[in-house]
Amino acid sequence: MKSVASAPGKVILFGEHFVVYGVKAILCAIDKRITATSQFIDERKIRVRSEIGNVELDLDISTNLDSIPSKIMKPFLHIAKETLKDHDEKRGIEIYLESEIPAGIGLGSSSAACVATTASVTGLFEKKSKEEILKKSIESERIIFEDVSGADSSISTYGGMIAYSKDGIERIESRNNLSLIIANSKQIHSTRELVLKVREFKNNNERLFAQMCEQESKLVENALSSIKETNLKNLGLLMRQNQQMLEKINVSTDKLDQLVKEASKTSYGAKITGAGGGGCIISLVDESNVSDTLDNLKKISDCFVSKIDFKGLSY
Ligand code: MEV
Repeated sequence: MKSVASAPGKVILFGEHFVVYGVKAILCAIDKRITATSQFIDERKIRVRSEIGNVELDLDISTNLDSIPSKIMKPFLHIAKETLKDHDEKRGIEIYLESEIPAGIGLGSSSAACVATTASVTGLFEKKSKEEILKKSIESERIIFEDVSGADSSISTYGGMIAYSKDGIERIESRNNLSLIIANSKQIHSTRELVLKVREFKNNNERLFAQMCEQESKLVENALSSIKETNLKNLGLLMRQNQQMLEKINVSTDKLDQLVKEASKTSYGAKITGAGGGGCIISLVDESNVSDTLDNLKKISDCFVSKIDFKGLSY
């Protein structure tokens, strides 16, 4: 028996990094997915196969994940290990991950992989609710990255557009499928390292950072109203302001600045999406400026138009 689940990647429209400190962020799921397929194997092993590498944990030798050199694979092993333990299951599990989302570019591939893996592995035993899957998925991410806000896993689970804060999730009922162009700087980044860098900025600039969190909160509330009114001009302006905040906390790079500048010439607005330090930018467009913006960005990067995924986790 095979258990298959898939979950979408994401973009953060507003509030990345500040969300780690309690500010609301606005996210949408994108139409690119990760699929996890799990099955029992007779060996007492957990095996994960994927395009970015393979890993194996021999449960007869040790169940300790410390010896696993690849950090990125540990959450998947953790999910399978805990699920086998919960069900007192003596067989092993093999998980196969297929991705349409490149890793390390800020489009939520690791969270989508954790959500899909949790649903797929637990699905070998029973169908859990989305809430239970999300909780387990965030727990598994936290074994390698304690500070993770949970925003990425939440949007990957529920799909659509959400406002996320540590206090909870609000669905944003906008069926206006915002058109975003995603452009890739091709600079690979580590979300964990960038979150630590921002923590250092915060520790060295406590008062300034507190003011910035307040400013970002107001910006996000303003953005929520603009989304409801489909006021693209105002949303674009707010994206530019959010970009300035991200530049101030040092998560932009020359390449990202160049992409934002180029996209801003023709679109409503552009900004980094996700952790920064590389990865992608997003640019807000409609039919009046999409082709000009694509033409501009294509000269300097890989880019594509993204649509919102309303399905979220499928299992
Ligand atoms: C990464 O996609 C978003 C960050 O805000 C980290 C997090 O929310 O866990 C940078």
